[in-house]
Amino acid sequence: MPERRPYIAGNWKLWGTRAQATEYCRRLLTLLPEASRRPADVGLCVPFTALDTCIELLQGSGVLVAAQNMHAEETGAFTGEVSAAMLVEAGVQSVVLGHSERRQHDGETDRALQEKVPAALAAGLQPILCVGETEAEREAGDMQRKLRHQIGEGLEEVADDRLADVVVAYEPIWAIGTGQVATPDLAQEAIAFVRALVASRSEEAAESLRVLYGGSVKPENAVEILAQPDVDGALVGGASLDPESLARIAAAAAG
Ligand code: 13P
Repeated sequence: MPERRPYIAGNWKLWGTRAQATEYCRRLLTLLPEASRRPADVGLCVPFTALDTCIELLQGSGVLVAAQNMHAEETGAFTGEVSAAMLVEAGVQSVVLGHSERRQHDGETDRALQEKVPAALAAGLQPILCVGETEAEREAGDMQRKLRHQIGEGLEEVADDRLADVVVAYEPIWAIGTGQVATPDLAQEAIAFVRALVASRSEEAAESLRVLYGGSVKPENAVEILAQPDVDGALVGGASLDPESLARIAAAAAG
């Protein structure tokens, strides 16, 4: 079975002026072990305006820099949007797609994601596709149906031999920013289900594809969650705004 390297990504959401990004990156680099001794890949998902600051300061450190959204088209009448090629030109390596906050507040749809995920891959960006159910859906027993739909649509136009290049983040909406972290068992169950969905397309890809958990991950609960066999890392919101917490969560990936 291929070894899946753990991945800990901090999602700054709407945080991070260039001044804050500068201070943050400098501090983070003092806290992380050298890339070759890190138990996990580490990444930062930052606002567009902080991308170049982070890229410059983190160059050569192995810390990945991701945008938080992009448009599927290369060019056109899409005011306010940024394309995959623009991100690549800026030195960005990865992009978060379909975060539940964008689905909720900005009209992000599974249909659009069906185009965005392959567009990101084609441009050379690693997409981090976010999926997850609401509390009402979980209570109604609809978690699997929701994940089947989101994974099915989001990965539909991705060729089987590129599936493993996608990172999936399972982020149950009821656990985001609420302090109500999913139990390790719940995270494991949902993530194993995501992996099974991918396996129905390609078993080989499912074994290599990394699936992260997101939702109120903190240094205090990270070890237990990351110890689950199918949980390949974490997408960390609030706690990632403190570089010390992010570094501790990355260290927790060592078990
Ligand atoms: P919190 O860690 O703040 O719950 O946010 C999770 C998240 O949405 C990461 O993308």
